[in-house]
Amino acid sequence: MFDARLTMLALAAALGVSAGVAVSKPKDEYQLAAERGRYLVQRNCVGCHNVGVDGLSPNANAPPFRLLGGKHTAESLRFVAAQSSAGDHYGMPSIYLSIKDARDIAVFIDAFTSAQGKARKKLSVAPCATPTC
Ligand code: HEC
Repeated sequence: MFDARLTMLALAAALGVSAGVAVSKPKDEYQLAAERGRYLVQRNCVGCHNVGVDGLSPNANAPPFRLLGGKHTAESLRFVAAQSSAGDHYGMPSIYLSIKDARDIAVFIDAFTSAQGKARKKLSVAPCATPTC
């Protein structure tokens, strides 16, 4: 009886360890890029663009990011950033996006718009009060 309990404990511990390994599996490149893109969006975009699962943008003319799925590439985002630097992105503060920044934002937009339900909610970004957060 005692031995059987020990065996169960050992089994539970072994299962626990293997579950732990599964959880701490290294993130893949897509996930890391999406996280970095989300951070950039949080810092630079949510002052005007809604990045929630629903709702309107703080700047009524700025399309919510959930509607941008499939519309933009890293190149087109860099073009938007270049426009902002030229003072031409609708009052968006001048922002320089490196190729990596733009790619990561594009990956974030892809991850956000293709996610459903709770997964999308998890990726959403709360609005902020000023154009630069
Ligand atoms: C100061 C406000 C403001 C900020 C900050 C801002 N935008 Fe915008 N953005 C706008 C407005 C307004 C439009 C819509 C212009 C139009 O449709 O004529 C727009 C349009 C866009 C579009 C084109 C949308 C489409 O329909 O294809 C993209 C892409 C975009 N923004 C990306 C960004 C990204 C990425 C950031 C952050 C790095 C950002 N914007 C920050 C105001 C802003």
